[in-house]
Amino acid sequence: MESMNDMGASSDMLDPGIETFFDSAPPLKDYVSIKRKVEEFIELNSSSSNKNAGNKTFRRIVCVTSGGTTVPLEQRCVRYIDNFSSGHRGAASTEYFVKAGYAVIFLHRRGSCQPYCSTLPQDPLLECFELTGESSVQVHQSHAEAIKKALKGHNSAVEQGQLLKLPFTTTFDYLQMLQLIALSMKSLGPLGSFCLAAAVSDFYVPWESMAEHKIQSTSGPLDLRLAQVPKMLKVIRDEWAPMAFCISFKLETDTSILLEKANMALRKYDMHAVVANELLTRKEQVTIVTREGSTTVRRDETESDSEVEKPLVELLVDMHSDYIEESTRIACE
Ligand code: PMT
Repeated sequence: MESMNDMGASSDMLDPGIETFFDSAPPLKDYVSIKRKVEEFIELNSSSSNKNAGNKTFRRIVCVTSGGTTVPLEQRCVRYIDNFSSGHRGAASTEYFVKAGYAVIFLHRRGSCQPYCSTLPQDPLLECFELTGESSVQVHQSHAEAIKKALKGHNSAVEQGQLLKLPFTTTFDYLQMLQLIALSMKSLGPLGSFCLAAAVSDFYVPWESMAEHKIQSTSGPLDLRLAQVPKMLKVIRDEWAPMAFCISFKLETDTSILLEKANMALRKYDMHAVVANELLTRKEQVTIVTREGSTTVRRDETESDSEVEKPLVELLVDMHSDYIEESTRIACE
């Protein structure tokens, strides 16, 4: 099996924190099959044999990351650190990117919100169906429309080859999968894009210093020392997929520092845009920060089921179009 360092640029170019992280991470289960799925999806959407995309225009591909990463406290994990992210942002954005004609690699936390499922009840299996006899079940009439809509949207995206769903759980899985996807997308140049909405843990317990077995409460209070998870944003830009259009997100609970932090991230990690959001208002409005300035988009309050991801993705798609045009112009000079 290929090791993570064999897949990237030469390891001496990596920030040592990144190298340590990948060297000590438990190997990704199903690495080979995930890699094959990603490569086939990219091939399908960037080859002239793709009838759905037409013979001339290749599809743009975006990797949307979504949901929170967990940090295991034990190797045979019983307990873990988690965060608030529901995955709604990533799931809804995926739908709007598909609508805009993109092929989406939806890298999501297992069990988090899924595209096309936002109108389904929380506990669909039990609420959506009813027993109609000893051995027969049917969809409950009150949920039939929502299920039909979800199935149509989801099946069409999958059948058109526009949706690849890849689940992760831990921060180890997430960052290894992100690296694998980014390296595979390198060949797409400016047609590739990243929309990094996942809430990635900033701290973790390195695998080698992690207890193997369940931590015992009889040992008394627990002292934990967490190492810092290296930010992978800059390495995407510098090495993994340097020509891809990169959008990261910045979440704060203190609005007075939000835009300043987003601006710092934009410059430090060389992002094309940073989407700034505040915890409590994140479903109502977001501010897209770029080198040219910032734009705030809001959910249409006149429509009950409107989502802020609609104007957000529309703006990001326009920005990506400008970026492709500019990159093509520079390449032709
Ligand atoms: O999922 P929802 O409930 O709908 O909420 C959406 C959201 C609030 C989670 C989303 O809009 C959002 O803001 N996501 C990023 C939250 C976050 O983790 O911010 P951060 O400042 O820790 O990280 C900034 C960026 O760096 C993110 O794009 C993240 O993917 C990336 N990152 C973070 C840590 C790390 N070690 N490596 C990274 O690459």
